[in-house]
This record gives sequence, structure tokens and C-alpha cells, in this order.
Amino acid sequence: MQITLETKPYASLETDALVTPVFESDDPIQGRAAELDQLTGGLLKKLATSGELTGKTLEFTLVHAPAGLKAARLLLVGAGKRDQFNVATLRKVVGAALRALKAKSVKNFTFLAGGTLPAEDGSQAIVEGLVTGDFETDKYKTDKQDKKIESVSLVGFPEAETAAVQKGMARGRIIAESQNFTRDLVNEPSNKLTPRVLAEKAEAMAKEAGLAVEIFDEKKIADLKMGALLSVAQGSDEPPRFIVVTYTPANPKPGAPVIGLVGKAVTFDTGGISIKPADGMEKMKYDMAGGATMLGVMRALAALKPNVKVICVVPSTENMPGGTAQKPGDIQTAMSGKTIEVLNTDAEGRLILADGVHYAKQLGATHLVDAATLTGAIVVALGNINVGVFGSDPAWTDKLLASAKAVGEKMWELPMDEEYREFIKGSFADIQNISSGKGGGSITGAWFIREFAGDSPWIHLDIAGTAWNDDAKPWLAKGPTGVALRTLVHLVLSF
Ligand code: BES
Ligand code: ZN
Ligand code: ZN
Repeated sequence: MQITLETKPYASLETDALVTPVFESDDPIQGRAAELDQLTGGLLKKLATSGELTGKTLEFTLVHAPAGLKAARLLLVGAGKRDQFNVATLRKVVGAALRALKAKSVKNFTFLAGGTLPAEDGSQAIVEGLVTGDFETDKYKTDKQDKKIESVSLVGFPEAETAAVQKGMARGRIIAESQNFTRDLVNEPSNKLTPRVLAEKAEAMAKEAGLAVEIFDEKKIADLKMGALLSVAQGSDEPPRFIVVTYTPANPKPGAPVIGLVGKAVTFDTGGISIKPADGMEKMKYDMAGGATMLGVMRALAALKPNVKVICVVPSTENMPGGTAQKPGDIQTAMSGKTIEVLNTDAEGRLILADGVHYAKQLGATHLVDAATLTGAIVVALGNINVGVFGSDPAWTDKLLASAKAVGEKMWELPMDEEYREFIKGSFADIQNISSGKGGGSITGAWFIREFAGDSPWIHLDIAGTAWNDDAKPWLAKGPTGVALRTLVHLVLSF
């Protein structure tokens, strides 16, 4: 899909559709809507009077052959109240418009920006909305419809802002394409994406992007004594992989902070011997979303070139109940030397992250973030709306929450009181992989990972509820969301 900046007056543009947001108020005919009303001889006022045009969020009003415009259609998309309008709403408005027009076999359209947001942020959000909205999960369908948006032009930005708009557009492209790279990985079923295949794809991405990459096979993982990762992998015929991707800035300062991004990549989670119920188990192909997110972040960073070193660590394995699988009660020794009593083999994400976080620290990471589809409990707590955030260092956590707010991703911090830590103290080993107490399952899961982060500022993102959309949204296809990628890219860029 081509996305270009157009400077001609929009009334004279020949396009399949002219799309613009309309804001909700007692009189929605203001700003751009008032301009369009003038050009079309009072069309919008008529629609507003009849109650068809209110500006309510994602209300669609489609008019064919609008008088006074060269466009074949005019699509007015409700954008909600003007004072609540932000980049997140703009992204949704744009993505929903693209998906609606694509369904109608439209090939190209023009988006008329409303001028309510700073030009750079606005143009970035528009491109992000377009590129993520265009992503489909029909890779394995043989009867694919050839509905395709070929080009979109953006109009309505002041000429003095051209440089800022182009900057925003370029950044939006990089971030959204990286988000789609992540979504593409998450969408793959486990027979197509084993740990070995994930490692190959990570390596190919890194080489193309100009990032350093190392893949450890099962032998090297054993040499490094990553006992926690190996314990999960031992129940599967598929060998594990450990992926390390590094971004180094042009002028690295000695002694400067290094960010470590660690992502859980269980390419399929059956639960192991503590096996999951059959109903819904197919979804556990997305249990590698944390790892895919971190790889997508690295892909974006390679192009955006922040001034800080970033190390990405992705332990990857299947969690299977094979004849050699670990069993409840087994005691494992993590790479750090800590012993772990595995009371439930389905709490495997924290096991592989234990070695991932420890290794990231060994490589020199000073500030850690991990992302994982870690617990069903986070779905109970926050549904599929907010990412669960857990942190050991308020300053570091606040930075992440500020980034989430800036890019419009919903994240909610949960408490990490020392009292919860008691519940993972082991009876027969140093720690146990499930809580001995009642409730708070996401917090005790986070505490388990924190044991391996030690004193380093650390954040854990539980994306179990948010990495997968069970239903399509008007602005996004059903399935993988690529959540947290934009926040993490913002966090690194603003470090
Ligand atoms: N991958 C699951 C968590 C999960 C659940 C992700 C639902 C997405 C949707 C994780 O490995 C797991 O099974 N966690 C257990 C932990 C429990 C045994 C302490 C869970 O949440 O039930
Ligand atoms: Zn599990
Ligand atoms: Zn899992």
C-alpha cells in the first residue's frame, strides 16, 4: 500500500473516497465538517439535522457522488468529542475507514486530516492506523478475496508542517510494519512456527535490519546450564532455541545504561503434564507473543536508531507432555543457580523467563523489561483491555507508563508488595513456580520473574489478555494485536 502526502486542494482530488473525521457535539458541523458542508451545498447540515451525522465514535456516514467534490464518495467517520480526541482515536478512525472501504472493494482513498493534533503525531498515527488496519490474517486461506487498498493520500496538513508530517509518516510506517511483523509471527500456528523456525525468522529479520544476532541451539543452552528453559523443553521432540538480538548505537558511551528486552516465546503451550483442558487450547499458539513483540521492537529500533544499546533475549520452546516431560514436584536448577520446585508444569513461562532475564543481565543489561502471555489471572483482573504492568523500580515503571499513555496503549500497574513474595518461597527448593496462597496469580507470577532480575530496575508486562483479539475490531483484524510494541519503542526512543 502506497501512502503519499498530497498538497492539492482536496475538493479537486479525484479519489474513490474522501474520508474525514467528524467530532461529536451539539453542532457537529464545525472545522473541516463546516468546510465540507460549504463545498457540498449544505449536505452535512442536512445529515446532522436528520440525526444521521452526530460524530459519535466510529459512526460511519457514506455519501456517494457528493456534489461539489471530485471524490466518488464522501465517508464521514465519527471521532467522538474533540477535547478527548487523541492519537489512539485517530488510529482507530483511520483503520476502521480503511477496513470498511476495503470491504467495499475501494482501491484508493484520500484522508483529510482535521488539524486537531500536532502534525507529526497526527501523521504518524494516521499511517499506523492504515498499515495495522490493512493487516489480514488470511495467509493460509486459498480462496483469498483480492480486495486490496492500493494507495492512500493524506491531505489537509498546513504546508509549513510538511517536514514534520513526512517525519511522522516515516516513523509511523516503521513502527506499524514492525507491529505487523510481530502479528505475523503470532498468527503462525505451532506446526508452522516451531522454536527453530522462530529462530530462523529472527535471524533473517536481524540480518536484514542490520542487527547483531546469535542463536543458541539445545547443546549451547545445556552448556550454559539454562536448566529452567531446558526443563520446559524436555517434554517435546522439538528442540528449544535461545535468541539474542542486539542493537548498538553509533557512538556507544562506556558505562551507559543498557536496556534488556526479554520475551516469552512458547510456540505452543499444552500445559505439559499439568495439561490444559482441550476447549480453547488451540489459542495457545499465541504463547510466543511476548518474544514476537520484542523481536518487532528490535526491527523498529534498527530503523529508528535510538541512542541507547538494547539487548533482546527470546527463550523459545514448546511445552509438551512427552514421555520425557518434567513432572510436578521436579526440582530444577536455573542458570542463576537458584533451585526451583516445579509444582505445575503449566506455569512454564516464568521458568523460561528466569533464564532469559538472568542471561540478559549477564550480557550487561541494566534496565529490564519482559513481556509474556504469562497468566490467565490477568484476563480475570483486567480483561482484554489493559496490559498488566509490574515493576520493581518506580522511576523505571513510571517511564513505561508515560510511554504507554503517549502512544495510546492501555496499561495498568498492579501492586508488588513483599507479602506476595512469601507465596512462592519453596518447601523443598529455593522457590516454587506457583503460589501457595489464594488469588493474585499474576502478581506471584511476576514475583517469580523478579527473583531473577535481582536489584536491576525491572518491568514485567503480562499481555495474556491483550495480545490476541478474539473478535475483529472495526480497525483491526481478528487475532494478533501486536500490543506493547509501540509503548516499548517509545520507551527506548525517549530513554
Ligand atoms: N500461557 C499461559 C497463560 C495464558 C492463559 C495465556 C490464557 C493466554 C491466555 C501460562 O503458561 C499458564 O498456563 N499459566 C497458568 C499459571 C498457573 C498454573 C499458575 C495459568 O494462568 O493458569
Ligand atoms: Zn502454561
Ligand atoms: Zn504459557
